[in-house]
Amino acid sequence: MSLSLNTKYLNDFINEHEYACAATQVKAAADLLRSKTGPGKDFLGWMDLPVAYDKEEYARIKKAAAKIQKSCDVFIVIGIGGSYLGSRAVIEFLKSPLYNNMKKDTPDIYFSGCNISATSMNELLAICEGKDVCINVISKSGTTTEPAIAFRIFRELLEKKYGVEGSKDRIFITTDKARGTLKSFADTMGYETFVVPDDVGGRFSVLTAVGLLPIAVSGVDTDALMAGAAAAMEKYTSSDIEENECYKYAAIRNILLRKGKAMEIFVAYEPYMLMFNEWLKQLFGESEGKDNKGLYPSSVIFSTDLHSLGQYIQDGMRTMFETVVSINETENVCKVPDDPKNIDTLNFLSGMDLNEINSFAMMGTVIAHNDGGVPNVMLNVAKRDAYNLGELIYFFELACAISGYMLCVNPFDQPGVEAYKKNMFALLGKPGYEELREKLAQKLN
Ligand code: PA5
Repeated sequence: MSLSLNTKYLNDFINEHEYACAATQVKAAADLLRSKTGPGKDFLGWMDLPVAYDKEEYARIKKAAAKIQKSCDVFIVIGIGGSYLGSRAVIEFLKSPLYNNMKKDTPDIYFSGCNISATSMNELLAICEGKDVCINVISKSGTTTEPAIAFRIFRELLEKKYGVEGSKDRIFITTDKARGTLKSFADTMGYETFVVPDDVGGRFSVLTAVGLLPIAVSGVDTDALMAGAAAAMEKYTSSDIEENECYKYAAIRNILLRKGKAMEIFVAYEPYMLMFNEWLKQLFGESEGKDNKGLYPSSVIFSTDLHSLGQYIQDGMRTMFETVVSINETENVCKVPDDPKNIDTLNFLSGMDLNEINSFAMMGTVIAHNDGGVPNVMLNVAKRDAYNLGELIYFFELACAISGYMLCVNPFDQPGVEAYKKNMFALLGKPGYEELREKLAQKLN
């Protein structure tokens, strides 16, 4: 079995009758999801995406990826939130967080349009100097300001370098099939476009063109990624939490939340999971945090954070639980060398693989945190590969949907994101926001 849940380190925190009670609520949430009658029911396209994806477009994604690989040194992915986090998480997880520094025959990949930092933009523009560049602009709405600004800047760069005609071969757009400024602009200019399906929200879109084009450019096996997700889709169907570990995880989150464990910390022991943690935080935070409810998602990479947040987790307020995603690393081996002089007194580790030491660090930490009053739920992944990651992605998406319905929120909208946008537009003087601008001016004065 490639993914498995270990609930042993919850035994001191959750009683059997609590599981039994939550099981009925999970079943109700699952009925709502499967019958497509719950809130956000028009955004359930992600559920059967691993098998029901557009095969013609999928072939086009692979073709475009091969073209991008051949024609550039630097590939800039422009998007924010769900429009970039999934692809970045997958690339770093399967390739490396140091992907750009590694020896490879695929382009360097950078992400832009997820901030409005002039510093960051200038750094990227400097990196592009003297290099061949392609860009992929990703925005479902086609109207988000941050990526729109980045697109304008990179379009100018490409048009200066290759001319308007030449740049057309280097600009790839992923957006709604018909709506939005980006779509009409792409059609006018003749850029190649890919579709964010109507019924798939941004944070659930990693297995659409949104994620797949950048992922394919990095050389990741997208077929295996989709196959893993398809396997998860088959596997997690039972409404019984004793048969369905994904639903059981959703139940656990809900039980712990009701006990005052209002924060979930995603824990990984591999730096290549840093962006996967970011993806998880967006998935759960944007799906559940509404109607004044929801777990607050946080994340750590151990051992690094054992020497910072580790102190708080061990000894601070007892308001959190940890979800530990543990990868059985089978490929990378690195042994501690022996030193006959043993001046550093490390010879008790001589010949040991770092993976083995890491797993002892993990078990030591799980027990310490458990003893310190922190429930730990563990998810074991059999191997670091595209297939297993596909399964993991689907597992969390499904768990998130079930958890959201257990909370009685709409897991598929994000109304809270609008508040800052309105204020920003008003402050920037965007036409149509004059009244709000007045109000904000009073507050600022
Ligand atoms: O999950 C979501 O829906 C959001 O995070 C969006 O992906 C994000 O706001 C970007 O939106 P868009 O793709 O419309 O530019």
